Amino acid sequence: MKEFSVVIAGGGSTYTPGIVMMLLDNLDRFPIKQLTLYDNDADRQNVLGESLDILLKEQAPDITFHYTTDPEKAFTGADFCFAHIRVGKYDMREKDEKIPLKHGVVGQETCGPGGVAYGMRSIGPMVELIDLMEQYSPDCWMLNYSNPAAIIAEACRILRPNSKVLNICDMPVGTLRRMSQIIDKQPNDLEVRYFGLNHFGWWTSVKDKEGHEYLPQIRDYVAENGYLTQIEVDTQHMDQSWQDTHKKAKDLLAVDPRFLPNTYLKYYFYPDYEVEHSDADYTRANEVIDGREQEVFSTARTIIENETAAGSGFSIGSHATFIVDLARAIAFNTHERMLMIVENNGAIANFDDDAMVEVPCIIGSDGPETLSQGKIPEFERALMYQQVTVEKLAVEAYIEGSYQKFWQALTLSKTVPSAAVAKNVLDDLIEANQEYWPEFK
Ligand code: NAD
Ligand code: G6P
Ligand code: MN
Repeated sequence: MKEFSVVIAGGGSTYTPGIVMMLLDNLDRFPIKQLTLYDNDADRQNVLGESLDILLKEQAPDITFHYTTDPEKAFTGADFCFAHIRVGKYDMREKDEKIPLKHGVVGQETCGPGGVAYGMRSIGPMVELIDLMEQYSPDCWMLNYSNPAAIIAEACRILRPNSKVLNICDMPVGTLRRMSQIIDKQPNDLEVRYFGLNHFGWWTSVKDKEGHEYLPQIRDYVAENGYLTQIEVDTQHMDQSWQDTHKKAKDLLAVDPRFLPNTYLKYYFYPDYEVEHSDADYTRANEVIDGREQEVFSTARTIIENETAAGSGFSIGSHATFIVDLARAIAFNTHERMLMIVENNGAIANFDDDAMVEVPCIIGSDGPETLSQGKIPEFERALMYQQVTVEKLAVEAYIEGSYQKFWQALTLSKTVPSAAVAKNVLDDLIEANQEYWPEFK
């Protein structure tokens, strides 16, 4: 089998060790000859790089491993770039969450004003990353899961329409795993139909390979428990706040019991509840800083101190096997069926062609082909149109440096109660993002 050269952009990410472990676990399906971490923060990446160097020498000595901040070294000869950068890091995530909350508005990494703020920071560096990849390895594919994926995908559509960038999210993968537990199946046994935008969608069917429909059975369970299951496996979504989110799906289902909702809809259906149940002084960013970040970096430091990964290793990010499935689909033309963020072009029959939507696709060596999801009901269509317009206005505002369009984007967000509130939040966000944003006039 061919062996691949992979670069992980955002090498200092808390997800990097889990993904490296997952790659090691899948070498028989996706052989790797060279693995490189690339980041623009050497200090952060060095800790993970040094520890993974020790671990890889012990567990996979045949893989050539580097970590670097030099794009030429990182991207030359790469077949795949797995991208998970966080522009502004947790410092800025904290502001994205806390500034809207101060104004009584949902404070969230990818939804509402915080998500748009994160988008405005990410468009420039993501485009730069794509250009670097193309400069040094024109045939390389980027599998991007950097957030906010909806805004990044729209920005790629406009600014880099011909680039080999695939945008994907792990939330549908994680929720499908929960659904499979509810009906005592394996995720691989199931095939779904789904429509929506990133972090904004609905399952319309969950069938096994023989064609048996499980949606009614799953719905009965979700109506009582949300997606909270008894068999809790080790995923990145085990913290209390995420358990609350899985549970809240029960109230999302109640709004339209025909379909199974994506958990992120809670920020749009119940923003008042969300604000009431948030602590403006301690948000998800703080939980992650005190939890996942602490754990990953202290494990890394222990490995460095002990000069061995024996007995103190990282755990496998098993949820992330979808990244290998996607890379394999491109590399070996497997025609894997996966949910992807792609240009609609008729996949949702009664929705705009030029909207970036999340739908099932068949993926082969030329990339994804969308599967038709037919017409969707007016309720969901209207919600999606409002949200996709927020995302489009945000990208237009970025390109034109337009304060007016930025203000309109926030005013239109279902999470924001009025134009006045939108303006106050925007002005505070501008102040906080001076280092990262273009000037908005
Ligand atoms: P993190 O802050 O731990 O890691 C991000 C890394 O990116 C940091 O080391 C940072 O220095 C680096 N970085 C920032 N700008 C960069 C640039 N221009 N070039 C190179 N490196 C850069 O963040 P995290 O919590 O581990 O998350 C990483 C990303 O993955 C986030 O965008 C997060 O939202 C995303 N994510 C997406 C999904 C999904 O479903 N799509 C799932 C999980 C995480
Ligand atoms: C899910 C979403 C990602 C998001 C992550 C946040 O996996 O699909 O897009 O980045 O949750 O998780 P966190 O643990 O950082 O709050
Ligand atoms: Mn996601």
